Amino acid sequence: MSKFYVTTPIYYVNDKPHIGHAYTTVLADVLARYNRAMGNDTFFLTGTDEHGQKVQTAAEKHGISPQQHCDDTVQRFQELWNTLGITNDRFIRTTQEEHKRVVAEVLQDLYDRGEIYRGNYTGWYCVGDERFFTEKDLVDGKCPECGREVTAITENNYFFRMSKYQDWLIDYIKTHPDFILPAFRANETLGFLKKPLEDLCISRPKSRLSWGIELPFDKDYVTYVWFDALLNYVSGVGYRTDDEKFKRWWPASCELIGKDILTTHTVYWPTMLKAIGLPLPKTVFAHGWWLADSKKSNAQNENKAAGNVVVTENGEVKQKMGKSNGNAVSPESLIAMTNVDAFRYFLMAEMSLGNDACFSEETFTTRYNSDLANDLGNLLSRVVKMTIRATGGAIPASGELNADDRELFAAVDNAIAAMGSCLESYKLDQGIASVLNAVRAGNRYLEKCAPWTLAKNGETERLNTVLATSATAIYKVAVLLAPVMPNKMGELVTALGGDAKNLPVITELGKVASISGWQMSDVPPLFPRLEVQKPAPAEKVEKKSAKAEKKAAPAPQLEVPGVITINDFQRTELRTAKVLKAEKVEGADKLLKLEIEVGSENRQIVSGIAPWYAPDDLIGKNIVIVANLQKAKIRGIESCGMLLAAKCGDTLALVMPDKDIPSGTLVG
Ligand code: ME8
Ligand code: MG
Repeated sequence: MSKFYVTTPIYYVNDKPHIGHAYTTVLADVLARYNRAMGNDTFFLTGTDEHGQKVQTAAEKHGISPQQHCDDTVQRFQELWNTLGITNDRFIRTTQEEHKRVVAEVLQDLYDRGEIYRGNYTGWYCVGDERFFTEKDLVDGKCPECGREVTAITENNYFFRMSKYQDWLIDYIKTHPDFILPAFRANETLGFLKKPLEDLCISRPKSRLSWGIELPFDKDYVTYVWFDALLNYVSGVGYRTDDEKFKRWWPASCELIGKDILTTHTVYWPTMLKAIGLPLPKTVFAHGWWLADSKKSNAQNENKAAGNVVVTENGEVKQKMGKSNGNAVSPESLIAMTNVDAFRYFLMAEMSLGNDACFSEETFTTRYNSDLANDLGNLLSRVVKMTIRATGGAIPASGELNADDRELFAAVDNAIAAMGSCLESYKLDQGIASVLNAVRAGNRYLEKCAPWTLAKNGETERLNTVLATSATAIYKVAVLLAPVMPNKMGELVTALGGDAKNLPVITELGKVASISGWQMSDVPPLFPRLEVQKPAPAEKVEKKSAKAEKKAAPAPQLEVPGVITINDFQRTELRTAKVLKAEKVEGADKLLKLEIEVGSENRQIVSGIAPWYAPDDLIGKNIVIVANLQKAKIRGIESCGMLLAAKCGDTLALVMPDKDIPSGTLVG
């Protein structure tokens, strides 16, 4: 049995948790659940970062003590983790006595050994990130991390001799390719380490900031919040308080973070551990950001440091989701639309681990309807209904397997193997995709074997084999997805007649030959389809919109998540267009440049459809475009509008009018 100790960042307590925080915590939870399901001894730590300027300022604003403020706001995280079914073994708060004692002891030890000294400091402080920067770090005089204003500070402080570990750290990163993952993030840190590393200021005079852990060797100072926070990963598993526990868990197997806090975790933290004399975590894994539409004007964005604003492949300007960017999406609204498991599934399946992902309600709905409502939900309901009709629910014994049966089992075995290796290589989304491939193989299998026809023709033996094969396949799918969707997959296993509390270890799943003999029961749909409200008929729409324009009423706010009003829909101008020319964009495999006719006007559109359409196939075709989309530059080429296409798995289909109709005609 191996050991697995996983951590999340400890989040700033006064933020309201959004889907970015939920992502890291659900990811850690899924990894912890998989490791438990593999039979590994697992410990999962999360918590909150409760000291520092931000908390002090917020508490002052509310007229309460900083501790009271923390005690109030920490509940938002605890409640959300509870809702999301997070199975952390401990929730650490940096205001807990035990943690504070550990931090003070570490500081005293480092001070006694000359690793900490007193000196003068001049620098720039970003309150939002709780970080100090030197003059040369700043970008246009602003914080290089988030683009916010910084404050000049000169004062006497204590410093950790971080600089002396620079060469050691470079060498360590180069000789431990698993320490920083994905590998391109290790290169980022090595890039950062090309500049001389400075010593780290680890204190704040109480005259400026009192909300922190007092330095044990100077009562006029508190500890810099990052020095305090990073130590949670060791204090959380008994460092200096419970030797046996600490020996059992440290070093951590995997410290999950977002790419925003790469430097603190791959420069400050390893050098601190080196000075303390502790081994480093096996892996610090930095995932990408959830991005959302920027809520700030372009002028404001241009002032921002590049780190917080991202231009996607389609040339759209997106921004890191977060409270300070005003574009945070709360998990609660998505859970209310669907359920907890669907939300967990979306986070894990949609983001390719390590890269950024764009969030929109549309991507959420599409992913839910296609993977869960259609593919998985359908497979289960077909298998259950047919078995109940054929045998009253008892899963029959299988006869001899033919090529179709073996093909389905091969898809399932492939998913079992893929999930195992994808977890090792932190490619969870790919593991999930291979399970969904097995689900789709299950639906194709049922269509091909047509058990309803077998039943009608009285071919009972073949019918029994098809029912047993599909039920066994879906059971294995449920076991594989249980760490991602514990509740719904539990319901699925129960519906099949299995014991949801006693699932096989994933590494042993291949050995389960069949679930024949179990008694199925009917279940309501696990993932009811999300309906997107249809616009009213065209005539009414026109009258209404004319009225709406006269009044110039602002578009009403969304009241029901996922539902838009007719006025919202009308803001999108969809028109037919005819493709006149099409050519590949040099140096961009996916892009085609199209010249299109929209009524009397010719336009240029750049679109990522090259993997599916050869330029010649498109010429003369009628398509549908969003005609009033803001112009964008994609790879330096202007694109005026966007064409409509549907993408499902590896297939992409263009939306085309089914009759010849003049270009430029309004679609609605
Ligand atoms: O940095 N996309 O806390 P924090 C993906 N207290 N993940 C996101 C995200 C987004 N848009 N926004 C936030 C701190 N996260 C410190 C950490 S650890 C010793 C101290 C997630 O509340 C992601 O994991 O700002 C990111 O690293 C973390 O929340 C930052 O949380
Ligand atoms: Mg942050």
